[in-house]
Amino acid sequence: MKNSVGRASGKVILLGEHAVVYGVPAIAVGIERGATAAAVPGTDGTRRLRVTTWGAEVDATDETRDLARAFAALLVAARAEGSIFVEAEADLPPGGGLGCSAALGVAVARAVLNSVHGAATDEQTLECAMAWERVFHGNPSGVDAACATLGGSVRFEKGQPIETLVVRAPLHFAIGHSGIASSTRSMVESVARQKERRPEIVQKAFDGIAALVKNARLAIEAGDRASLGKLMDMNQMLLAGLMLSTEEIEKMCGLARDAGALGAKLTGAGGGGCVVALCDSRASAEVVAEAWRGAGFESFVTETRGQQAGPRVVRFVASGGASTP
Ligand code: PMV
Repeated sequence: MKNSVGRASGKVILLGEHAVVYGVPAIAVGIERGATAAAVPGTDGTRRLRVTTWGAEVDATDETRDLARAFAALLVAARAEGSIFVEAEADLPPGGGLGCSAALGVAVARAVLNSVHGAATDEQTLECAMAWERVFHGNPSGVDAACATLGGSVRFEKGQPIETLVVRAPLHFAIGHSGIASSTRSMVESVARQKERRPEIVQKAFDGIAALVKNARLAIEAGDRASLGKLMDMNQMLLAGLMLSTEEIEKMCGLARDAGALGAKLTGAGGGGCVVALCDSRASAEVVAEAWRGAGFESFVTETRGQQAGPRVVRFVASGGASTP
């Protein structure tokens, strides 16, 4: 065992949330902001994890705390047996739909695997991070852990291997919080109720989203940010039609477009949570973030780097996720 570190990205869903629950592909990207972890061999026989962001420190034997059980499950998946101390932190808002827990899980997994085995493959990292995520989220889709591990852009479809996409040109984003917490479970249930009452209308929205996702993939691969922005705007309209938007989200989308964004939409569950705006440079993303701050919405800018390699299929099948209730 040796001292080692691990890093991981947060994520935003660019297109396809909710429809993905019903088998439509979604596209998500890893963002620069994320989590880091450092592991050192223990000297006292214990296996402990400190997450400074959450102000928590746990021992892997403590079965009463989710964080401890998640750490224990990760250590089992990593086949890590000796005493170890890991310290982790994240620069993502928890509960904002930006994949904070998965980023922490991936950073911790990398630090532990590197410490114990001297290396961490993406597949091993994903296996450990999913063991961690299952403790927090029961049956996670895996999109957060995939983005946290792989960065770049991923195409995600239930029951299919995760595919990384070529990102021809870097993507610059402003991300802002609507100030209202969003509950993934209740928003997924709300869509399910609408689908029961008006199946044809909801299916039409999903078909529309599927077409947008297909075109968004081509736009990302071609480095065509302007088209990608328009597709995101159209996805926002369809999500609003499913009653997933709010007054604050609409206000933020409007502010972003007025400030020069190429496109803006809610990301993740909706009903609150975060808005993502695609911009053509870091400087223009700053202008959007500033407009949001001026209106009282917390925000930051981030980017997804260009990724020329790929597409690559990762042998990890996305089987979980919010199931159709
Ligand atoms: O914001 P998040 O990470 O909770 O994403 C929710 C995405 C949904 O499509 C609404 C649900 C899911 O499991 O895919």
